[in-house]
Amino acid sequence: MNAEREHFSSKLGFILAAAGSAVGIGNMVGFPVAATKGGGGAFLVIYALFVVFICLPIMLAEMNLGRKTQLDPQGAYPSIAGSKSRWRFAGWLAVLTPFMIGIFYMVITVWILGYFLQTLFGNLADLADPEYFGTFINSYTVFGYLIVVAAIVHFILVGGVRNGIERAAKLLMPALFVMLVGLVIFVLTLDNAMTGVQFFLVPDFSQVNGDVISGALSQAFFSLSLGMGILITYGSYFRQRDDLVGSAKLVAVADSLVAFVAGLMILPAIFVFDPNTNPDTLSESSVAMIFNFLPQIFLALQETLGYAGASVVAGIFFLLVFFAAITSLVSIIEVPTATIVRKYNVSRKRALGVLALTMGTLTLVAIASFGMVNAFTNLVTYGGGSRSFFDVIYDVFYDTVLPLNGLLICLFVIWRWKTGHFHEALGEGNASYHKSLLKRYVSFSLMTFIPIVLAVVFINTVASIFFASPLF
Ligand code: PHE
Repeated sequence: MNAEREHFSSKLGFILAAAGSAVGIGNMVGFPVAATKGGGGAFLVIYALFVVFICLPIMLAEMNLGRKTQLDPQGAYPSIAGSKSRWRFAGWLAVLTPFMIGIFYMVITVWILGYFLQTLFGNLADLADPEYFGTFINSYTVFGYLIVVAAIVHFILVGGVRNGIERAAKLLMPALFVMLVGLVIFVLTLDNAMTGVQFFLVPDFSQVNGDVISGALSQAFFSLSLGMGILITYGSYFRQRDDLVGSAKLVAVADSLVAFVAGLMILPAIFVFDPNTNPDTLSESSVAMIFNFLPQIFLALQETLGYAGASVVAGIFFLLVFFAAITSLVSIIEVPTATIVRKYNVSRKRALGVLALTMGTLTLVAIASFGMVNAFTNLVTYGGGSRSFFDVIYDVFYDTVLPLNGLLICLFVIWRWKTGHFHEALGEGNASYHKSLLKRYVSFSLMTFIPIVLAVVFINTVASIFFASPLF
C-alpha cells in the first residue's frame, strides 16, 4: 500500500529532524525560566527524572507505532486496531491536535520573525519599549510576516521528507547550536553572569511544590513533542532496520541538552541586567519573557557594546529562536500533510494548499483575537473568565488534549496492540533491546503508573481550566 513511502536517508537524518521538532521555543525560554523559578538544580533533577521515566517510554511508543505501521496517526491506529475500531478516534485526535497547536505555534513564530526583522532594521530601542508588544501584535505588518513564515514552511514541506524536512534540519540545527554556544560564551563573560548561573544550577528544594512538579512534567512532555502525532509521523519515515531505541534516547538527550544550555544563556543575561533580580518575580509566560523582557536586556547591552553591537546580539538571539521554531512548525504541519496525502491520495503540494487555506484562515482568526476583532478576542467564557480564540486553542489542545493523547497511546499499547507485539516491533534494528533493562522498564511503566499519572493530569486540568476548581 505504501510501497513508495519516503524515508529519512539515515539514522542521523531522523535524529536531526526529530531533534529539530523537539528543540523549540519551549527550550529556549520556557525551560530556563521554569527552572529558575522551580528551585534551579532541584527542578533540573525533577525534569530529568520525568524525561527518562515518563517521557521516554511514551516517545518510544509513538515512534514505534509510526515505524511499525509506516503510516501517519490517522492511518496508524486503525491499521493495528481494525478499520471499524473505536481507536480511530485516537488517530483523528492525533491529527487534529497538531493542526490546532500548529496555529498557535505559527502565531508565535510570526511574532519572532517580526522581532528579528525589526532588530535587523535597527529598531531594537522600539522593541524594548514595554508598550511595543501590544501595538505590534495588533498591527497589520503581522500579516506580512505571516506570509513569509507560511512561505518558508511551505517551501520546506513541499520538498518532502529527505529534500525538505531532513535537509532543513541538517542546515538549521547545526546553525542553531553554533549561535547558542556563541551567545552562551558571550553572556558568561559579562559581569554578574555567575549569579544567574548559580540561580539556574544550585538546587533549592524549598521552592519545589505541586505546581513546580506538574509544570516540569508538562514542560518535558511539550518539549519532547509528545502527544502531537509528530513522533508517530516521523517514526513512519524511519526504516525497520535502523535503531529506533537508540535514536529516541539521543533525541531526548539532545533536546534536554539544548534546554540546559539555553539556561546558561538566559539566566546570566537576566542577572547581568539586574543582579538583584528576584526569580519569583520573573514572568510565568515565555511570551512575556521573549517579547517584553529580553529586548530590554539586549538594549541595556548598548552601554558596553554600543547600539549596533547590542542589536547584533539581539538579532542572533531572535534568529536562533526563529530557527528552533521553524523546525518545530515544520514537524507539526507535517502530520496533517502526511494524513491528507495518504487518505485523499493527492500530491504534497495539493495537501499543503488545503492546509494553507484551512490552517491559514484559522491563523488569521488567531491573529485577530488579541483585540483586532472583538468576537474572536472574547470568544467564550469559562472557568471564570472571557477567553480569546488563541486562549481556547491553548487551553483545549495544549493543556488538555496533549496529556490525553499520551494516555490514549499507553492504553492502546496495553489493550489493543499488546505489549508482546509492541516490544517485538520496538526491538527491530536493536538486537540488544530484548535483553535490556529498558525493555522491562518500558513494559512496566507503560502498563502501570504512566497512564495513571497522565489520567490524573488530564482530569485535574479539565477541572481547573474549565470548572475553575482544581482537584489539588
Ligand atoms: N518541542 C517544541 C518546543 O519545545 C514544541 C513543539 C514542537 C511545538 C512541535 C510545536 C511543534 O517548543
